[in-house]
Amino acid sequence: MSTAIEPFDAVDLIRAKRDRRELTSPEIAWLVDAYTRGYVADEQMSAMTMAIFLNGMTRREIRDLTMAMIASGERMDFSGLGKPTSDKHSTGGVGDKITLPLMPLVATFGVAVPQLSGRGLGHTGGTLDKLESIPGWRADLTNDEMFAQLRDVGGVICAAGAGLAPADKKLYALRDITGTVEAIPLIASSIMSKKIAEGTGALVLDVKFGSGAFLQDIERSRELARTMVELGEDAGVATSALITNMNVPLGLTIGNANEVRESVEVLAGGGPADVRELTVELAREMLALAGRPDVDVEAALDDGRAMDTWRRSIVAQGGDPDAALPVAREQHVVTAERDGVLVEQQALPFGIAAWRLGAGRARKQDPVQHAAGIELHAKPGDAVRAGRPLFTLHADEPARFERALAAVEGAWRIGDAGDAIENGGPLIADRIGR
Ligand code: URA
Repeated sequence: MSTAIEPFDAVDLIRAKRDRRELTSPEIAWLVDAYTRGYVADEQMSAMTMAIFLNGMTRREIRDLTMAMIASGERMDFSGLGKPTSDKHSTGGVGDKITLPLMPLVATFGVAVPQLSGRGLGHTGGTLDKLESIPGWRADLTNDEMFAQLRDVGGVICAAGAGLAPADKKLYALRDITGTVEAIPLIASSIMSKKIAEGTGALVLDVKFGSGAFLQDIERSRELARTMVELGEDAGVATSALITNMNVPLGLTIGNANEVRESVEVLAGGGPADVRELTVELAREMLALAGRPDVDVEAALDDGRAMDTWRRSIVAQGGDPDAALPVAREQHVVTAERDGVLVEQQALPFGIAAWRLGAGRARKQDPVQHAAGIELHAKPGDAVRAGRPLFTLHADEPARFERALAAVEGAWRIGDAGDAIENGGPLIADRIGR
């Protein structure tokens, strides 16, 4: 039996990165391929990801890493659709349901939206978990079904197939258990390998900062955004990024069915101002990058066109857009202790509380409880009255309330009119891109 000769040795490459040497393009291509086929062991890749975490990578190395992860799987091609494609990726946050109204809104203008999404892990919710609270709706589509829906409805939100960037799946699982998730070269290549492989022509990144975000510091979020925009542009995908505030939950709902309800309100021309604002701004970015800069985005929310596309997309995936969404069996209302103004509402504790109520999962295989979550009755800046509801916890099992309440202890504060709002600032802090 003949054994293929490997061109490199993993230990040499680990030592090189440990000693801050730049890896060559063939070295990176080999490393990713050899790891995907199991020749490079998990413990070797763990050492490599830690060396990258500590010593970083150059722009060229990050591009090579991204291209190697794309090459590990299939690359989708929507050029046969005959219309431009545009997609959005959010780095995730508490109450971030924007994909739901955004996809139909953009699709309404003849720009196809191939949104491959994931399920949630930890305190940030997954788009598929939210949509699965709609009776009958199905996330798993074949490539042919996806193509047909993009052609006929104009947009699709579905699960990414196993064939897309399999190297990233393996690497991400390893990073998750080795303390190497938060390395910018690794985050950027992970996100962008999937988005470039997905075949979108344009891409808008919603890179969040603040307590409920993946990266808390705005400067780190800017650096991640710049890195991803460069990767997209280098790969021929028109890419831009908005840097958005995730210190406060987005909108008034957290949890799967609750967030679908709020998304439908936005599609009906209403909904909380911050959810509408971010939906509209991201839609403008997606449309401008796809060559449609001059359309009236808000009108499509107000006159029902985006709602119509939403309903058709839900039906196309087996769902009933008129079906009642699940409602939790138990509620616990928290009231204001005094008259005043809500001056603080921290995203992360509210995200953790929703997770403890059953809205999220601790392990990949856990189910989510679709009706579990939190309804906020006031946002920072709102006047509140003693004894009136501040927020309501929803859960199927009342035993969950105690730990959820512990999570939000000290996470909101009532002050007086004129007091500064904690982590106020604009929702959209910056834009990066051409
Ligand atoms: N999301 C991803 O897909 N990859 C990361 O590394 C981080 C967030």
